[in-house]
Amino acid sequence: MGSKYSKATNSRSDTSNLSYDVPFESSRFPLVDLEEATNNFDDKFLIGEGGFGKVYRGVLRDGTKVALKRGRPESSQGIEEFQAEHKIHSLCSHPYLVSFIGYCNERNEMILVYDYIENGNLRSHLYGSDLPTMSWEQRLEICIGAARGLHYLHTSGVIHRDVKSTNILLDVNFVPKMTDFGLSKTMPGLDQTHVSTDIKGTFGYLDPEYFRRQQLTEKSDVYSFGVVLCEVVCARLALDPSLPRDQVHITEWAMKWQKKGQLKQIIDPNLVGKIRPDSLKKFGETAEKCLADYGVDRPSMGEVLWNLEYALHLQEAVI
Ligand SMILES: Nc1ncnc2c1ncn2[C@@H]1O[C@H](COP(=O)(O)OP(=O)(O)OP(=O)(O)O)[C@@H](O)[C@H]1O
Ligand SMILES: [Mg+2]
Repeated sequence: MGSKYSKATNSRSDTSNLSYDVPFESSRFPLVDLEEATNNFDDKFLIGEGGFGKVYRGVLRDGTKVALKRGRPESSQGIEEFQAEHKIHSLCSHPYLVSFIGYCNERNEMILVYDYIENGNLRSHLYGSDLPTMSWEQRLEICIGAARGLHYLHTSGVIHRDVKSTNILLDVNFVPKMTDFGLSKTMPGLDQTHVSTDIKGTFGYLDPEYFRRQQLTEKSDVYSFGVVLCEVVCARLALDPSLPRDQVHITEWAMKWQKKGQLKQIIDPNLVGKIRPDSLKKFGETAEKCLADYGVDRPSMGEVLWNLEYALHLQEAVI
């Protein structure tokens, strides 16, 4: 979980009566089925906790493994996030997006039900755990898949708004799945270049231009994805206040070295000697472009995808 930034002006404070609509069709689960799937929300089934609430793994009666996100009833943003998840999942489905199975809004509960993604989030495979190190090729494949998922969202008129390494899940074959559409926005029309909106997202990943202008475009996702690329190569937190001041923000730190052509000095020690220089160069240049100050100077996700595929090609090229 990261610290969330939410400058909402229209949050609802009274959630005692959850008589909200679910605007789109999807399966509605009786609460009793979800209690059965998680042994009554037993802590043994807990797999994580985020801004929306606790996340449990569970098994439905037909054997389907699921992840349940149980909203905190006291969360004023919960209802909006709950509805946004429905909306986006009813509009979008793709191999690189987590599948949404259904929901439960019985009694005071707000529960979202997803496919269970076996290997958890990308961040835990990069740092802060004892999980085995991933190779450079594997990391590139994951970035490429996540970029495909985001490219699909953008071409469907959806801006994710909370791109980060904990919102990229890895399945049993390490295929990435983008998740968490609770903050996502749909673009109102094809001629529209931005959505004016409150600032929401996670510290360390927020596009500074969006922060200043409160105008959201798909290039804000591109910026956040650039932060993820830095995490992938450096294996450290996006924002780490315990580090010396010039290292606190991964973007400032990584781009300082990238601009000197010396990114290799700060890569994950597990990758030293294992990345071909031209592949690292292409990757560093791609991250740098994603992190450009102005959205207009950033590439589209389609271009990012192409560049990452090229970085993988350079890594795999046989001399
Ligand atoms: N479908 C899923 N399958 C397996 N694990 C999941 C699934 N969804 C979420 N998780 C796990 O639960 C954790 C918490 O998820 P959640 O989205 O609530 O919070 P977060 O992304 O870590 O932080 P934040 O709420 O600040 O965005 C994730 O990091 C992930 O490890
Ligand atoms: Mg998440």
